[in-house]
Amino acid sequence: MILTEVLKKHQMRKEYKLVTIVYPTHNDIIEELNWLSTRYSKEDIFFEAEKDIVKIYLNQLDFSLFKNDIWQRISGLTNENKKQLLQEILQKIENIKSYGLKGKKRVYVGYDKERKVKGRKLKEIIRGEYYYAKNHNFSRVNNEVPKEFVNKIIVGDSEEILKQLPDNSIDLIFTSPPYNFGLDYKNHEDGVNWDEYFKKLFRIFKECIRILKYGGRIVVNVQPLFSDYIPIHHIISNFFMENKLIWKGEILWEKHNYNCKYTAWGSWKSPSNPYLKYTWEFLEVFSKGTLKHSGDPKNADITADEFKKWVYAKWDIAPENNMKKYGHPAMFPEELAERVIKLFSFRGDIVLDPFNGVGTTTVVAKKLGRRYIGIDISEEYCKKAEERLKLSKKLCLSLFGKQED
Ligand SMILES: C[S@@+](CC[C@H](N)C(=O)[O-])C[C@H]1O[C@@H](n2cnc3c(N)ncnc32)[C@H](O)[C@@H]1O
Repeated sequence: MILTEVLKKHQMRKEYKLVTIVYPTHNDIIEELNWLSTRYSKEDIFFEAEKDIVKIYLNQLDFSLFKNDIWQRISGLTNENKKQLLQEILQKIENIKSYGLKGKKRVYVGYDKERKVKGRKLKEIIRGEYYYAKNHNFSRVNNEVPKEFVNKIIVGDSEEILKQLPDNSIDLIFTSPPYNFGLDYKNHEDGVNWDEYFKKLFRIFKECIRILKYGGRIVVNVQPLFSDYIPIHHIISNFFMENKLIWKGEILWEKHNYNCKYTAWGSWKSPSNPYLKYTWEFLEVFSKGTLKHSGDPKNADITADEFKKWVYAKWDIAPENNMKKYGHPAMFPEELAERVIKLFSFRGDIVLDPFNGVGTTTVVAKKLGRRYIGIDISEEYCKKAEERLKLSKKLCLSLFGKQED
């Protein structure tokens, strides 16, 4: 055992985060841990070995410095055992995602204490959470969608089709409306006057709010037309809040899309009018009536790892690269739909997309055991959506040898 005297001396066990690695603790390992422990301030980090367990006591660390240091050490070592130990230590510390920041250092203990607010509950009441959505008139009585609409792709204008659905009947709406960028859609003029655009969009969204269940969610994926200085994500959010929906949050879909014009600087090297560029899109998330969506816990299919990863609201997902194949200019990738559907709905729930395009939402909803409704104004896109659904059925048959419901 090494360095227990440090613990005894400081009697600070509670001020360290203890991280352990199961590792055979031969003499050369002890030697390496001793080297590590003398290298860094004991107040920040130190190491122990006990019965094949390597213990790392972490308080705070300039991680990038540590990483460089360790890699330098590894490159100078010939002992494979020592090298592997150092790599494992590095990996273990890198994997710790909960820490605070103090200057360049990651702080592993007590970092959340400062943020604690005394009398938080009372203060919340005084502030009034989502005050803008409080005095709504939404009914709490949910209804079933008539069978003829379930698991259907419907050609038509959503403003008209949605009127045929009952109030409070849809669990999750996930959609991406046309952004009015001037894209070449089949049956839709994309690039109208903004006033006209929003009036039409909001007539459709009004219907969406009506058909959402009490506790249902609507998630809207949008990308502002920055060159027109129209913050469509804010305008849409204001609309939903004015209509008494609760803003549940915003997800940044980081596409790492550096296709945006590098030459469009606005004013090159001058503060006179620089032009900001974006490699991401937004997903605005709203709830109707209450933040909680009821469902049987048995029907929650998100794994612990997915949940932990996806509740961090910045999602790195590459853009869809099959748009040519499907003949649609503005699809989102299946992974985006998968995350939204698993995070915000239960298996068996009914998922609707009023701007379904070639059916990404509906095909993913089907794969994930949700019921679906997809509406698009273009017959051609709806045919593609049907083909994708059939293909996923065939895939399922060949993989599992059984018919899906
Ligand atoms: C951004 S795209 C959606 C693409 C879809 N997320 C996908 O991955 O295939 C918007 C879609 O809205 C459709 N659309 C436009 N106006 C519509 C309306 N009034 N009713 C229904 N669909 C409409 C367009 O045809 C287009 O396919």
